[in-house]
Amino acid sequence: MIIIGGGIAGLMAALAAAPAPVVLLNPVAPGEGAASVWSQGGLAAAVGADDSPALHIRDTLKAGAGLCAPQMVAEIIAAGPGLVDTMLGYGVRFDTDGSGRLALGLEAAHSRPRILHANGDQTGAEIMRALIAAVRRTPSIRFLPAQARHICVSGGAVAGVLATQGDEVLRLPARQVLLATGGIGALFRDSTNPPGAVGFGLMLAAAAGARLKDLEFIQFHPTALAANTPSLPLISEAVRGEGAVLIDEHGDAFLNGGDLAPRDTVARAVFAHQTAGHQVFLDARRIGARFATRFPAISEICAKAGINPQNQPIPVRPAAHYHMGGVAVDASGQSSVPGLFAAGEVACTGLHGANRLASNSLLEAAVCGAVAGRAMAALPVGNASTLPEMALPPEPNAAAIRGIMSEHLGVLRTPAGLQRAVAQLQALAPGNPAAELGLRIAQAALARKTSVGAHAVQGTAALHQAA
Ligand code: SIN
Repeated sequence: MIIIGGGIAGLMAALAAAPAPVVLLNPVAPGEGAASVWSQGGLAAAVGADDSPALHIRDTLKAGAGLCAPQMVAEIIAAGPGLVDTMLGYGVRFDTDGSGRLALGLEAAHSRPRILHANGDQTGAEIMRALIAAVRRTPSIRFLPAQARHICVSGGAVAGVLATQGDEVLRLPARQVLLATGGIGALFRDSTNPPGAVGFGLMLAAAAGARLKDLEFIQFHPTALAANTPSLPLISEAVRGEGAVLIDEHGDAFLNGGDLAPRDTVARAVFAHQTAGHQVFLDARRIGARFATRFPAISEICAKAGINPQNQPIPVRPAAHYHMGGVAVDASGQSSVPGLFAAGEVACTGLHGANRLASNSLLEAAVCGAVAGRAMAALPVGNASTLPEMALPPEPNAAAIRGIMSEHLGVLRTPAGLQRAVAQLQALAPGNPAAELGLRIAQAALARKTSVGAHAVQGTAALHQAA
């Protein structure tokens, strides 16, 4: 069994599959270059005294704007409280309140405070620390530093992976392969994702013939730090959960109290205000001296940019943050190609619909990673087949399409812009898997004629408006 990727979904799958032997295939050590490590806000789970899975399900369905898969939502959310126990068992140190209970934060469109966090705003890093330690203690998991380049399919089912290690091509037979490769943010100029998040897993899945779903739904986070770096540092929604508000250069709180509306709504409002010529800032001054202890990583990010959030508003702009679409999978994480599984951001389980509820992604990655790991381990290993000698596919060139993606597939799309994107990407697609993926995204966006959730097309009526 091969797991491609070194973030939360991949590590949870490897641990859940134990003692079945697993090869963890990633070009760099687990955790390095993984978006999971950057996750600030936290992990949503209905563990509060005034909370319940039913309320969490309701909030998730509402944010998803009518396009969630209700059964998947129910299963994943119901697994949340148990997942928290599992994580505590792995040694994850979530923040607690003064009386030793788990501290729960509030984020946009959650009706209850239910976001578990660690070291204030370093939740992903703390979860990864504990999972990496658990993986190191598990002898059935072998790390192979190599780059997956092709999923081999034989007789309609997965037969293995071709990977490269330097100049050497590795032929790795396997009947079960999990894609846990993260998202696509780095296909855009402004992104909160690591630079390597160019949709590599989607390219592998597409080439293997797997069905992809909901590709047009890309979530833009409204408050990335307005900087000039390749990845924009995130200013977590949890900062608004603690009382910060969005203002413009005149100090006007232009959202009129709607700062914790669903993320798509806030991103569009920020985008519209900026398009109208305003500058936008996150004003966290009312949090006061507590900012530094509640948000140590964000404090450091701001300090590096020369900003003190205790007395200065933080300049922000929207950035590509999360892909709701992905490899279509069933409840066990299996794609339309037998033996090919996907978990985490690369997968489309139906949990997020048209707009992901904040902090549901770590929950999904961990729950679905573990489900997929167990499902793969339960399948027969089968006989290893010899993988074909074949030329490797071309390397993706994301830089070639970033301008097109950013101009035409951003926060607000237009029918003419989508048509232009399709034409431009069609011309670039031969020989560039990143352009092929971009083309599929643009075609999906063009095909969806109404605005819904994160897919907003100027001049089209919103079918299901996230409340
Ligand atoms: C954030 O901390 O604002 C991001 C959390 C998430 O994307 O779920």
